[in-house]
Amino acid sequence: MKLQSRKIVIIGAGHVGSHAGYALAAQGLAEHIMFIDLDAAKARAQAMDISDASLYLPHSVKVSAGDYSQAGDADLIIVSAGPLPDRSKGQNRMDTLGQTVAVMKDVIAKLKELKFDGIILNISNPADVITHYLQKGLNHPPRKILSTSTTLDSARLRRALSEAMGIDRKSILAHVLGEHGESQMVAWSAASVAGKPLRQLIAENPLYGGLDLEAIAKEARGGGWTVLEGKGSTEFGIASSIAEVVRALFGDEKRILPVSVLLDGEYGQKDVYASVPAVLGNNGVEMVLELSLSEEERKAFAASCASMRGNLQYALGL
Ligand SMILES: NC(=O)c1ccc[n+]([C@@H]2O[C@H](COP(=O)([O-])OP(=O)(O)OC[C@H]3O[C@@H](n4cnc5c(N)ncnc54)[C@H](O)[C@@H]3O)[C@@H](O)[C@H]2O)c1
Repeated sequence: MKLQSRKIVIIGAGHVGSHAGYALAAQGLAEHIMFIDLDAAKARAQAMDISDASLYLPHSVKVSAGDYSQAGDADLIIVSAGPLPDRSKGQNRMDTLGQTVAVMKDVIAKLKELKFDGIILNISNPADVITHYLQKGLNHPPRKILSTSTTLDSARLRRALSEAMGIDRKSILAHVLGEHGESQMVAWSAASVAGKPLRQLIAENPLYGGLDLEAIAKEARGGGWTVLEGKGSTEFGIASSIAEVVRALFGDEKRILPVSVLLDGEYGQKDVYASVPAVLGNNGVEMVLELSLSEEERKAFAASCASMRGNLQYALGL
């Protein structure tokens, strides 16, 4: 049996790419991490910085900068290139669609030459629409191209719930579904604490009488803006989300995380990338889990999908 080491290529060595690289290195999720960036000096600097850190990390890791000609043997490619929304102009993620599509045209042209058939994890925003754009542009098997999407929003939601309820976030199961963006929604009817329906727990416990779930959903949705406006980038939360998804994929964990996948009839939706809980393993997205949503939640999810479908059509026309 041949022993194998794992190589991850990260396209876009900015705030997200570099923090993802560090999280993957620190958690021992790859033996080789390689950055590609338009700015080759920046890619080299990020690689050197993480490489310097590696002596004091628990795992050995090679960190390098390179180009597409060295990316064909990757086990996984992460795409994190592209512009950030300009909050001074009130932009949201979808407002960067045109600029990100321009970046993706370059990424698609280069990746096509590689004939890469492994797993692609897209982070670039608007994450769901861009993942679909990449899937179509590369004609990549849908189950092998996904986005973290609301993995991060769900972490924000569980943080907010945990702070409001005084219960550890790991004991609260609640998913944000749909778009990693403004049209996202929370599947409250499927949320639970140690198996007990969240709404029932709130109704029965006077301690939680004043809990405003709408305000909590809003906090989760706005969490990215609070971080971006406060420090100019969001990086640790997304890096940790990326590492969690990569661990589930590489470890063949069959772990369920909310990720953006191409829907094929699930939740009554077709031909749209949207975040739903999915089983992740060596084959990528191995199964989509259909939660029992209320009628109102189904409508909100459908509206989120409709908005992303429209934006994909716009992107395809650029
Ligand atoms: N999905 C999420 O949860 C999430 C979270 C945070 C940021 N993001 C998105 O990730 C992307 C990157 O954010 P960031 O904060 O790292 O931005 P950044 O500006 O710090 O880094 C972007 C990098 O992409 C590089 N780049 C641009 N065009 C390229 C190309 N054609 N090929 C290779 N590299 C290229 C730039 O040189 C730069 O280094 C944005 O689209 C952002 O909206 C997504």
